[in-house]
Amino acid sequence: MGKDFSKILITGALGQIGSELTLALRRRYGNENVIASDIRVNPPAEIAESGPYLVIDVTKPESIRQVIIKNDIDAIIHLAAILSAVGEKDPHLCWNVNMNGTMNVLDLGVKYNLKRVLIPSSMAVWGKGIQKEMVPQDSVLKPTSMYGITKVAGERLCDYYVYKYNLDCRGLRFPGIISYETLPGGGTTDYAVEIFYEALRNNYYRCFLSEDTVLPMMYMPDCIKSIINLMEADFEKLEHHSDFNVSAMSFSPKELANEIKKYIPDFVIEYSPDYRQAIADSWPRSIDDSCARKEWGWQPDYDLQSMTYDMIKQLSKKLNIPILV
Ligand code: NAD
Ligand code: SER
Repeated sequence: MGKDFSKILITGALGQIGSELTLALRRRYGNENVIASDIRVNPPAEIAESGPYLVIDVTKPESIRQVIIKNDIDAIIHLAAILSAVGEKDPHLCWNVNMNGTMNVLDLGVKYNLKRVLIPSSMAVWGKGIQKEMVPQDSVLKPTSMYGITKVAGERLCDYYVYKYNLDCRGLRFPGIISYETLPGGGTTDYAVEIFYEALRNNYYRCFLSEDTVLPMMYMPDCIKSIINLMEADFEKLEHHSDFNVSAMSFSPKELANEIKKYIPDFVIEYSPDYRQAIADSWPRSIDDSCARKEWGWQPDYDLQSMTYDMIKQLSKKLNIPILV
């Protein structure tokens, strides 16, 4: 276990995960050693002022290549992607960014002999014919969304580069990520973030999933911890590479709403399922992450209760809406 790479490039760094991961990695590896990049030209001050920021469109390999060469990059965390809900609205964009972006990063990883590449996958890899409860590590992968199709293909591609080119590529199948710093980028689990903003601002939320739709979720501090732990794990101890199941908690919108009501008793939730319900219905209710626990010591810190407490506390501060917690 150790930091056997020193100069990290993050793609898609302005998204929900990247905006917090960038700052966490800068604290751990040094500000100048973590290059944040995204297709967007105007980064927020926190990212722009704490270290290097560059514009990279991952569908254009030359823009990634130049940054690798000029900055002696030896590790890439590839977060640029189109998520499930946006992907259903524009499947071609989803395929282009997720597949060509991933292929470009992997090819450059081989060409420049990078020490490590990490590319997150998603619970969207599952679909028809799965075991809904505690879906195992090695299981049937028949996704019904374009996003899920790109995630399965991405996992297979990464493992192919491990075996064919000896590229050290790793990945995790994230459940829905919940956070308060940056809004999610257009996924099916976004309701679990929106609900906190609406509960605090308006005491009311209209949920786009039905009340009993149970999905696996994870709080951002655990997401960051899992990325760092897997990045720094010994390659020799890994039997899997690009497709680690990881999980932390599972709940339905109704269960989350009831937890929020402990702090905001007047909170009212109504349900109006839309096209995202079909995506959610194709995903598992809970995930067996025993391989990640065994191979690199995965262990989440947050459950539904502790995540809700912290979300209310942090967001009430951020939005300046005092709530007693
Ligand atoms: P996000 O949508 O919040 O951020 C993605 C970023 O990619 C955005 O900042 C966007 O501007 C950027 N981007 C889009 N097209 C680009 C391009 N052509 N070139 C460069 N940048 C581009 O996503 P996220 O939630 O931070 O997800 C990061 C990774 O984690 C993705 O691979 C995603 O599939 C995976 N994941 C996320 C979740 C979650 O709940 N957030 C769950 C499972 C997996
Ligand atoms: N949170 C993601 C989404 O809903 C899961 O990959 O798309």
